Amino acid sequence: MRVPLVDLQSQYRAIRDEIDQAIQSTLDSSAFILSDEVEAFESEFAQFVGTKYCVSVGSGSDALFLALEAMGIGHGDEVLLPANTFIASALAITRAGARVKLTDIDPESFNLDLGSASISENTKAVMPVHLYGQPADMTAVKAIAQQHRLKVVEDAAQAHGSIHREGPCGGLGDVSGFSFYPGKNLGAYGDGGAVCTNDAAISDRIRTQRNWGSQRKYFHETKGYNCRLDGIQAAVLRVKLRHLASWNEARIRVASWYREELDDLQHELKLPSEVEGTVRHVYHLYVVQILHHSRDAVLESLNASGVGAGIHYPRPIHLQQAYQDLGCGVGSFPVTESLASRIISLPLFPEMDRESVAYVSAKLRDALQIDRRT
Ligand SMILES: Cc1ncc(COP(=O)(O)O)c(C=O)c1O
Repeated sequence: MRVPLVDLQSQYRAIRDEIDQAIQSTLDSSAFILSDEVEAFESEFAQFVGTKYCVSVGSGSDALFLALEAMGIGHGDEVLLPANTFIASALAITRAGARVKLTDIDPESFNLDLGSASISENTKAVMPVHLYGQPADMTAVKAIAQQHRLKVVEDAAQAHGSIHREGPCGGLGDVSGFSFYPGKNLGAYGDGGAVCTNDAAISDRIRTQRNWGSQRKYFHETKGYNCRLDGIQAAVLRVKLRHLASWNEARIRVASWYREELDDLQHELKLPSEVEGTVRHVYHLYVVQILHHSRDAVLESLNASGVGAGIHYPRPIHLQQAYQDLGCGVGSFPVTESLASRIISLPLFPEMDRESVAYVSAKLRDALQIDRRT
């Protein structure tokens, strides 16, 4: 048996007729850029997130960058960011001209721990990342943001449908960025992203910037970019958005099956926990911690058994070559570093059946035993 980390083919097979029809209809209309499909998707996604506005863009990276830029965050400013995230969160800050100011993370939620944040007069924004689908502690983020007058830019790239007690993720700060990278809970068939906000001025600015700084063809108010979601992707996303709630439910069910299968291994394995304040964790990733054994040996053994497990992420931001200029060496963020050496992402996708969960769990048990003998 082989169980991939994600299975986009089985998802496509399940909705093939709807997708093919949507793509064909875009081809027939030849409306490829800023079309009715794009507008319709934006209004449907804004409704899903619960914000007044959604502006679709070329990727999640574009979304975060444009969000920062639209709030005037740039040169000389610092943005707080958890050290445990995908590099794109940090790169968006750098691209805006601002400085990344890392914080360590909470060991239970994997999300940012603002208790460890050093905030200076140059700190102008905080970027909570709702990592793996679990909401960051937005109650704490909002309190600190209010106290220090920080803008809040949510990185919701892994959190389509996640809910915190403060409300749905993506609608809790000044602005948020979503990614529609194919493997995301809502994924396009190529790159795509969106910014969501309740602020009309931010939405207008991003709408202009994504289209060469133009609201009227050939008239350019600002020096903008070409960062648009294309019509075919919007058509695909409209179809998939109709399934997102049930796919998220299926992910939550798979996570509960893992818990049933693996609960008794608690002395060897720490399963993901849903922390206080989490109303809905959408399990973009199912990340376990190997407590005593060699993580790399366990991962190798799983992969050799046909289990497509991975690591998200093996190297924290401050230890990436690209961010050596931050001057944060090994030991700077101990919780992040310790988790990076212990985590494994097990396969999880909405179409995954009970038998596959049992197989992965059995192979994980074997791997722990194999490793124990060595
Ligand atoms: C946490 C996080 N932030 C930002 C991004 C960037 O999104 P994209 O790949 O669409 O640029 C991703 C995904 O790749 C992500 O996982």
